[in-house]
Amino acid sequence: MDKIGRNDNCWCGSGIKYKKCHLAFDEKLERAAAEGAVVPTRDMIKTKEQIEGIRKAAVVNSGLLDYIGQNIREGMSTEEIDRMAYEYTTAHGAIPADLGYEGYPKSICTSVNDVVCHGIPSEDCILKSGDIVNVDATTCLNGYYADASRMYLIGEVSPEAKQLVEVTRECMYRGIEAIKPWGRLNDIGKAIQEHAESFGYSVVREFTGHGVGNDLHEDPIVCHFDTNDRMILVPGMVLTVEPMINAGGQDIYIDDEDGWTVRTDDGSLSAQWEHTVLITETGTEILS
Ligand code: MF3
Ligand code: CO
Ligand code: CO
Repeated sequence: MDKIGRNDNCWCGSGIKYKKCHLAFDEKLERAAAEGAVVPTRDMIKTKEQIEGIRKAAVVNSGLLDYIGQNIREGMSTEEIDRMAYEYTTAHGAIPADLGYEGYPKSICTSVNDVVCHGIPSEDCILKSGDIVNVDATTCLNGYYADASRMYLIGEVSPEAKQLVEVTRECMYRGIEAIKPWGRLNDIGKAIQEHAESFGYSVVREFTGHGVGNDLHEDPIVCHFDTNDRMILVPGMVLTVEPMINAGGQDIYIDDEDGWTVRTDDGSLSAQWEHTVLITETGTEILS
């Protein structure tokens, strides 16, 4: 990191002198590094202005997921949900960030039943009673990104499927509650894995949470299982927590026809919830 004078403007863009802004913070980071922690790089720490931008993007993103909740129903195609998402997002002056992302063809992901994530909305996928559906949306507003997903239950859903959806939601919240400023990144995954496995469920390993805000996917990678990662978490980081939990085994495969759709190997149900979370001085704030 560049050395800044005590009376220089802080690196964070606050316009305040370094000694009154991030100096103590940087010294704390240096001490943690000396004690063997992996410390986040400066680009993982958002400025006030960036946080305000992400917050506004998250308002549109949450509004979209609410709007989908009010309209999703049996007999509707996932393509129709995609159209709603495109229209809602653009009507709010924002851009659906998934559209065109690494060639992804739609505005949102719609993952039904054994689809783990990255289900592509389609005219041919008609929602029926008993389905559990994850809708994952990422909104870009004024260059800032927010990313969240929810599960929606269609018609009469089996108790087994309902339990998976509920426990996966709990996994997400336990992961978020495990986040402590100056705590460890790995605490998130440990909390999630323990809760999921206590129900005989398994955690998907191949897809993870991530930093978010100035881009859709930023560092660090946020695993939803125990990895012994030694990175510490600090105020100003913005992360997603988005566990994918399978009712059966952890193995998955990617559909080789579309190159995107991720399914459970054993055909068991999978659920996912996602929030965009800001780490604050005292804890966390869910932005999405
Ligand atoms: N919203 C997804 C996430 O949580 C990213 C989807 S990328 C896409 O990280 F290309 F599949 F849309
Ligand atoms: Co995400
Ligand atoms: Co997402």
